[in-house]
Amino acid sequence: MMDLAAFHSISYGLYVVSSVNDEGRKCGCVVNTFQQVTNEPLQVSVALNKENVTLAAVLESGRYCVTVLDQETPLELIGVFGFRNSIETDKFADAAFEVDAAGLPLLLEHGVAAFCCSVVGTVDMGTHLVVFGQVDDAKVLGKAEPLTYAYYHAVKRGKTPPKASSYIADEAQGASGALADDAETTVAKCGWRCTVCGYIVEGYPDGLPEDFRCPVCGVGPEMFERITL
Ligand SMILES: Cc1cc2nc3c(=O)[nH]c(=O)nc-3n(C[C@H](O)[C@H](O)[C@H](O)COP(=O)(O)O)c2cc1C
Repeated sequence: MMDLAAFHSISYGLYVVSSVNDEGRKCGCVVNTFQQVTNEPLQVSVALNKENVTLAAVLESGRYCVTVLDQETPLELIGVFGFRNSIETDKFADAAFEVDAAGLPLLLEHGVAAFCCSVVGTVDMGTHLVVFGQVDDAKVLGKAEPLTYAYYHAVKRGKTPPKASSYIADEAQGASGALADDAETTVAKCGWRCTVCGYIVEGYPDGLPEDFRCPVCGVGPEMFERITL
């Protein structure tokens, strides 16, 4: 039997891939699948879900930028770029960014380094397209520690949405399973964690109201697990 836990031992970083579509809309999403492919020439790749708006923008512009996120990246930023849709949400509205030579947005906030790339090929992998890029420009943005996928999960208690290549369905189920374990938590220490994006809200010992929505990723109370603070 396949042991899905094995996939948790694969190391990744966390990044924001950004681009601009034909209408000039700035798009961007969190990925963990960015990597260097060759040194000469300098080439990289990223696996993008076909339903992600950012992929359409990458294919339309033929270009993408990548920001390497630092360890201090707040879950709110990952909530916006990793759980929302770039057409419905202007992800760059409240974010510090610059526009590269080709007119693409490049996220500066919590950036350790950035790459600007031209698409040189794609491979269709079913749900995802692997997009290969030639690096046209690279720069260091800061000295902070890069955010790893392991740190995001273990320390920040962040979650992975179904559109990420690394999504494991059992992970989400396991998280909500914590509800029963913590059911005896005292009133003073009660809190709720969003099992989708990791956002934490304090209080509500009798349960979250039906119309409560996660301020980061927008899901309802059924996606929150009770925790002890
Ligand atoms: C930790 C994490 C890792 C992710 N990794 C990927 C990835 O490698 N590829 C991908 O296509 N989506 C990935 N996603 C999901 C996208 O960021 C998400 O679907 C986003 O809302 C897409 O936005 P868009 O529709 O504006 O492009 C990841 C999300 C998170 C939070």
